[in-house]
Amino acid sequence: MSEAEAHERPILIASNRLPFTVHRGPRGLERKPSAGGLVSALEPVLRKRGGTWVGWPGIALRKGERLPFGGPGRLGREGLGYEIAPVVLSESEVNRYYHGFSNRTLWPLFHSMHERAAFERRDWDTYRLVNERFAEVAVESAGRAGLVWIHDYHLMLAPASLRQSLDGARIGFFLHIPFPPYDVFRLLPWDREILRGLLSCDLVGFHVPGYAQNFLDCVERRLGARVDRRSLRIEWGDRTIQVGAFPIGIDFDAFSSQAHEAPPSPEAGRERIVLGVDRLDYTKGIPERFLAFERLLERHPEHREQVVLLQLAVPSRSQVAAYKELKRRIDELVGRINGRFASASLSPIRYLYRSVPQDRLVALYRDADVALVTPLRDGMNLVAKEFAACQVGDPGVLVISEVAGASETMREALSVNPYNLDETAETVHRALTMEEDERASRMASLRRRERRYNVEHWVKGFLDAAGRKSPALGLPLRQDFENWLEPFLARYRLALFLDYDGTLTPIVDHPAKATLPEAARRGLDACASRSDTDVSLVSGRALADIRAMIGRDDVTYAANHGLEIEGPGFEPFLHEDLPHYRGRIPDLTRALTEHAPEGAWVEEKSYTLTFHFRQVRSEGRSRAAEAARRIINKFGFQARDAKMAVEARPPIGWDKGRAVLHVLRSRYGPSWSERVRVVYVGDDHTDEDAFRLLEGLAVTFRVGRADEPTAAAHRLGRAEAVHELLDWLARRPSHDLHES
Ligand code: ADP
Ligand code: G6P
Repeated sequence: MSEAEAHERPILIASNRLPFTVHRGPRGLERKPSAGGLVSALEPVLRKRGGTWVGWPGIALRKGERLPFGGPGRLGREGLGYEIAPVVLSESEVNRYYHGFSNRTLWPLFHSMHERAAFERRDWDTYRLVNERFAEVAVESAGRAGLVWIHDYHLMLAPASLRQSLDGARIGFFLHIPFPPYDVFRLLPWDREILRGLLSCDLVGFHVPGYAQNFLDCVERRLGARVDRRSLRIEWGDRTIQVGAFPIGIDFDAFSSQAHEAPPSPEAGRERIVLGVDRLDYTKGIPERFLAFERLLERHPEHREQVVLLQLAVPSRSQVAAYKELKRRIDELVGRINGRFASASLSPIRYLYRSVPQDRLVALYRDADVALVTPLRDGMNLVAKEFAACQVGDPGVLVISEVAGASETMREALSVNPYNLDETAETVHRALTMEEDERASRMASLRRRERRYNVEHWVKGFLDAAGRKSPALGLPLRQDFENWLEPFLARYRLALFLDYDGTLTPIVDHPAKATLPEAARRGLDACASRSDTDVSLVSGRALADIRAMIGRDDVTYAANHGLEIEGPGFEPFLHEDLPHYRGRIPDLTRALTEHAPEGAWVEEKSYTLTFHFRQVRSEGRSRAAEAARRIINKFGFQARDAKMAVEARPPIGWDKGRAVLHVLRSRYGPSWSERVRVVYVGDDHTDEDAFRLLEGLAVTFRVGRADEPTAAAHRLGRAEAVHELLDWLARRPSHDLHES
């Protein structure tokens, strides 16, 4: 799809919140506008462009209740100019998915407040299910949508379900909150699942480059994926994911013109106003702000009775204990500080615990002398931008927390560390006493930038990027191998273990055709010829077969998934229980062959066999595999899925992992880990046994598609990348070894 086409096609947005929230009022269910930055940003976009918004109406329906619009699964325009597709949730789903995993786990963790985060298995399970539900509604509503655009931390798994149902669709994701650094993110017990969910998208967007880099770090270190930090791309099997920083903006002209028109606020003209506007949330730093204001009144008595802190706080998530606790704390603080500084006619803190109508809000933004925006952490913060847009009269001053995303671009604001009360107090003093020419210059620059980088600019930037296909990453560079391996190998001998099919060779339609590519041959020969490197082939093929494919005597062969091992420097190994099973293989072969549909065939390998169904017509494959598994089990063998094949193995608890350990112990003795460094490269789940066993003991690589989890440390896209790895290993400098 071209960029122009992508812009014309309707978009489908999915977010937890719809632009309105349904409440139980005296006249039944009623709609009210939703609070928060996400809705403030997206609502004007959909109103202008049209499209569909998939989201939760904000209420758990009781038995027999119906939504005051559309209906579950039905779309309605609702006079909004775009369609609504509601996702209905039960009370317990709301508790576990929304109050629970979204707001008690992800919200605090992603704001780097991990001590507030609860990790509950059952909340996670519901989060998963609800994400699937959102994906189903999105699929039903997708129609001609050129892009499915998913928003925010409530829906980080939905892309995975969407990818399965809408394989060819473009999927974009935008996170409206920070993405935390690796050592915070990794505390989440389900961190890898979350990353995999996001990697089902084509484009993953964040507010600022720092969050994008945190995400890349996590993907690299937790999933072993290859990332390019400069172009912000991720290699994820055969797909390439683009990451980007798209700082969100506001509907600047709308705020600015409303500010011109709004009547003066009742507060204007009496005392000077320092304004705070937030959802009541512990990330917003409201208590710290009050304490800093108290400090201002202590240190600068000239402001007493001259300045008020007007704090608007919209009630938010009040069913979560931490929010209730915060409300209590704020009430207490307001009482205490006002008790200390109030005069007969004036309280220094005026605190409104409610949402205020837009025209009143805009007037307050315009008439305030200082906006005090001091979150302890904030993805972006739209209040800072709205304040600037409304400064159409005497210019006020913006004081902003350094750890709000907005402070990265709003450079002309005065920035503070919100935990530093003295600094904040002094900065507010500076703002209150700033000369007009300085205020005007600072505000003019802030306004210019926000007018230019408004919400439309944000949408366009995201949609343009989502419409472009990112080029694949290209093969790993020497630098990548150096990062992964050089410190690990240092001055040690290398024990290199390589799977064959899918690792050294691409997968082909018949194993006999999988001859060693020239580049693999070159790399393998060069590695095997080095005196500080021992090469082992670990393959599901029969011993004679893999030996013939490689054709070298100086390497080790762990064939038949490691049941038969031969190599230089140790006794050949054949698992002692194998003779018992060998006699049954011909009967099993016969039974499988009798039931095999056209195109399927059986590869006999003395002690094991493989039932191949790659050439069976696609609609018959899963039935063929199922029948093969049944027969294999009936004959007392273990069935294991391989690539378009089912393996039959003797049930003797032996696998590639045990085989590797056997080679290491036989060849280098029980203290092998002091003598050699192990690298293992494989491509399917028979190699996972080795990856798991070697976790922490070796550097491991999984090759190929990325749709399955892996215990390997790194991923390589395809066999050609393995050839590059061999080339790097072959050419690495040789040093005196620790021990030879
Ligand atoms: P968050 O998304 O965390 O709530 P933002 O600052 O990005 O924080 O967005 C808050 C949005 O909520 C802004 O658009 C702001 O105008 C609106 N808002 C905040 N407090 C109030 C209030 N008391 N009354 C009305 N709107 C409010
Ligand atoms: C932040 C989140 C939004 C959320 C909003 C209000 O802006 O990023 O996703 O909608 O807060 O919170 P609520 O829990 O009421 O939806």
